[in-house]
Amino acid sequence: KKWWPSWDQRTHFNCLQTCTASAPVTERIQQKLSSSGNPPPQSVQKYVRHQCSKWNLVWVGKDKAAPLEPHEMEYLLGFPKDHTRGFGKTQRYKSLGNSFQVDTVAYHLSVLRDMFPNGITVLSLFTSIGGGEVALHKLGIHMRAVVSIEICKANRKILRSWWDQTQTGTLIEIDDVKSLKDDEIASYVHRFGGFDLVIGGSPCNNLAGSNRHHRDGLEGEHSSLFYDYFRILNSVKSAMANM
Ligand SMILES: C[S@@+](CC[C@H](N)C(=O)[O-])C[C@H]1O[C@@H](n2cnc3c(N)ncnc32)[C@H](O)[C@@H]1O
Repeated sequence: KKWWPSWDQRTHFNCLQTCTASAPVTERIQQKLSSSGNPPPQSVQKYVRHQCSKWNLVWVGKDKAAPLEPHEMEYLLGFPKDHTRGFGKTQRYKSLGNSFQVDTVAYHLSVLRDMFPNGITVLSLFTSIGGGEVALHKLGIHMRAVVSIEICKANRKILRSWWDQTQTGTLIEIDDVKSLKDDEIASYVHRFGGFDLVIGGSPCNNLAGSNRHHRDGLEGEHSSLFYDYFRILNSVKSAMANM
């Protein structure tokens, strides 16, 4: 607060991204401000405000704007402290920038608490670092079993480590949604007596965010995985209809 310039009137962060501003961006801001008067000219203010808002920079010293730290992103996203700690900063930014905001998801899932007093079984697609699972845990909803599909090994390790510390149910981890076929889905449906919740956020790289060069929509390389979500959901429904 002490270092926040009066001409930077931001009260909200922008969408959290999977990467942060590089050192040249913050150095250029510092250099422009230190060579300007106080307050700086409108053109400098406009440039700095734009960079701060684009990269979610915060003021941490005189003329010194810096990216959010991973632990601050964990806090803003509603994850437990140190949820992603132990992994490199680049990986942590990537995992956190891709994630759900846990408390928002918990708000939507809160209806399940009274519906499933004995706990639920979950099929979690594109689990990432477990935003959905942490939300259910925060709501006090017991997860009897979670079948989680997440391709990134670091994300799977983060989920497993959180799970082993906080849960008593069964966690099954699978790598790739593309490899999950009808017979395997039917066997999980049979083993767990069906799924109470299918949750997931398929990759949005080709739909939104700052990736303007590859906005190929749902046909894009990553975002087309949405069709696997659709396929798997239909497969679960038909396996449960045959129970
Ligand atoms: C938008 S994020 C999901 C966020 C997540 N639902 C949460 O809890 O916050 C998309 C995730 O899909 C994963 N992913 C990408 N391709 C995949 C695939 N073929 N199979 C499984 N997961 C995949 C990515 O590693 C990433 O973690």
